[in-house]
Amino acid sequence: MQRTLGVIAGDGVGPDVVREGLAVLGDVVGRDDVNIQLAHFDLGGERFLKTGEVLPDSALDDLKKCDAIFLGAVGHPGVAPGILEKGLLLKLRFEFQQYINLRPVRLFSGVETPIKGKGPDDIDMVVVRENNEDLYVGAGGFTRKGTPEEVAIQTSINTRAGVERCLRYAFRLAQERGKARPFRGLSKDEVGKGVRGQVTMVAKTNVLTFAHDLWMRTFNEVAADYPDVKTDYQHVDACCMRMVVSPERFDVIATTNMFGDIITDLGAVLQGGMGLAASGNLNPERNFPSMFEPVHGSAPDIAGQGIANPIAAILSVGMLLDHLGAPKGAEEVRRAVAKVLAAGTHKTPDLGGRSTTAEVGRAVRDALGT
Ligand code: NAD
Ligand code: IPM
Ligand code: MN
Repeated sequence: MQRTLGVIAGDGVGPDVVREGLAVLGDVVGRDDVNIQLAHFDLGGERFLKTGEVLPDSALDDLKKCDAIFLGAVGHPGVAPGILEKGLLLKLRFEFQQYINLRPVRLFSGVETPIKGKGPDDIDMVVVRENNEDLYVGAGGFTRKGTPEEVAIQTSINTRAGVERCLRYAFRLAQERGKARPFRGLSKDEVGKGVRGQVTMVAKTNVLTFAHDLWMRTFNEVAADYPDVKTDYQHVDACCMRMVVSPERFDVIATTNMFGDIITDLGAVLQGGMGLAASGNLNPERNFPSMFEPVHGSAPDIAGQGIANPIAAILSVGMLLDHLGAPKGAEEVRRAVAKVLAAGTHKTPDLGGRSTTAEVGRAVRDALGT
């Protein structure tokens, strides 16, 4: 099987972690019947500063022809906030209808979580973040800008179809996760009745009484089609508190774009930090390429030092391989990462070690197939 992977290394630590991700990809790709050709795209802050271009139409067209995209990070200290984030990252998520942002939160053995008394058995959830609506649509504007009477409006857009497809994805994922073994937070009684997984919807129905009323009604309707999945609801503020106090109560979380952005940085911390959190922006229908990237950004505070943790990017490669129909390679990537983390001998400074990005990447590659 021949596949083309578009690569956007981007800004800051992006190129460093992408290099390691691609090296791992090159090593494991032969395990499945897949051949991956890389197409590199020079996009990001440096390109913008040189040429004024963020995402030229020609690049968008070429990216559209790819089977998937691997992105490092965008965001440059010399470029005003929003130009690259909206013009590149969000543009791709929207243009390619990547309406699911899948963000696993899993604590690997050997990694310290700041949550006292919790371990890998307690921290294993997946956030299904709606990725094409809400405040991210960019609907809004100013009037009387720059005057004392200035008004700024930014509207959260929620559509029935958009909410429903996101929730259905979450329910199907909970079913899928429950296949191997039922979610640990279910009672014996529930498992006896055939329940296998749980979806927690996270919103703010007590304040956002229009938008999240739509979410709640849709949730209740969709849930009726999945009797083997338990439903749960948390307001987003309480969700943050419970993710810290009792992370074991979460299986699949379904939430809005903005809340999903926020709670997945919290989720990253539960699993050991930004350096470990992977994600996939998915177009489940495969009409357009899906895009895989670490949850973290360009990390300007550590950029250029060669010390960024590459594991979030490497785990994103694992998700990418699953998506491209290379499950053996995907599993191998996760196994090698688990091995390196359990051994604890190669850690970047964010995990309390002294290894470089390249050394951790090398350690993961050495652990492949062992
Ligand atoms: P950030 O995720 O870049 O950094 C937050 C903190 O986490 C920093 O202290 C950083 O050093 C640390 N960190 C991040 N990645 C790390 C890694 N791989 N290894 C070790 N430590 C790591 O968030 P920020 O500082 O708020 O944003 C910086 C820039 O990145 C901004 O321009 C922002 O818009 C952009 N951003 C882009 C993406 C993306 O491309 N997907 C995501 C988030 C932020
Ligand atoms: C993320 C980032 C992006 C988001 C920004 C950079 C647009 O924070 O991927 O989590 O808000 O989605
Ligand atoms: Mn974010």
